[in-house]
Amino acid sequence: MNVQLIVACDQRGVIGTREGGLPWDLPVDKAHFRRQSAGRWMLFGRATFEEMHGWFTNQRALVLSGATNYQPAAPGIHVRSISDALAVAREANAPGLLVAGGARVFAATLPLADQLIVTHVDVDWQSEHQDSPLARGDLPRFPKIDPRRWRLLRRVDHPADDDHPWPLAICWYQRGSHGL
Ligand SMILES: NC(=O)c1ccc[n+]([C@@H]2O[C@H](COP(=O)([O-])OP(=O)(O)OC[C@H]3O[C@@H](n4cnc5c(N)ncnc54)[C@H](OP(=O)(O)O)[C@@H]3O)[C@@H](O)[C@H]2O)c1
Repeated sequence: MNVQLIVACDQRGVIGTREGGLPWDLPVDKAHFRRQSAGRWMLFGRATFEEMHGWFTNQRALVLSGATNYQPAAPGIHVRSISDALAVAREANAPGLLVAGGARVFAATLPLADQLIVTHVDVDWQSEHQDSPLARGDLPRFPKIDPRRWRLLRRVDHPADDDHPWPLAICWYQRGSHGL
């Protein structure tokens, strides 16, 4: 089973705010996420899945929750562990699984991943928003990408513009030992 992770993170790996939700609204990244996820089998943590209510079109969502009787609000299949998620996807002959976070799910699936699709947002978001309550304390993060384990395959840059306060680089990484 091919496992890909898709994430947008800042220079320090931040992916979300203190109260949930994304730290930013970046149309280029949203369009990229829609393209990459179209028709895919996807894995979400419960919090991320609930935030994305109303967003799904033709994706097949597996939703991680440790609760025994969790009922996903949007169409989705409840799974209680990462290994359950992989088993359900395999049984359905899914060609691969796209993992869409959040932080705990990324940390648990990074060791299993074959590819990473990372939108690097060129900002230290917490420092730039230090007056905001949304930026206080420990924020959800994507783990550090070790260049000894991940080989950069492709990079697409997007400069800052009226809709994007910071430059973005969308990068595809493959597990491998060659370094960047
Ligand atoms: N920038 C990005 O690309 C991106 C992507 C995704 C999310 N985010 C942001 O990340 C934040 C949410 O992340 P989060 O880490 O707080 O929440 P999350 O991972 O979305 O959801 C956490 C919940 O998922 C369940 N869960 C997670 N791992 C599990 C496991 N291994 N086994 C069983 N259940 C598991 C648990 O549900 P129960 O409590 O029901 O047991 C846990 O409380 C939000 O701010 C969101 O906007 C950003």
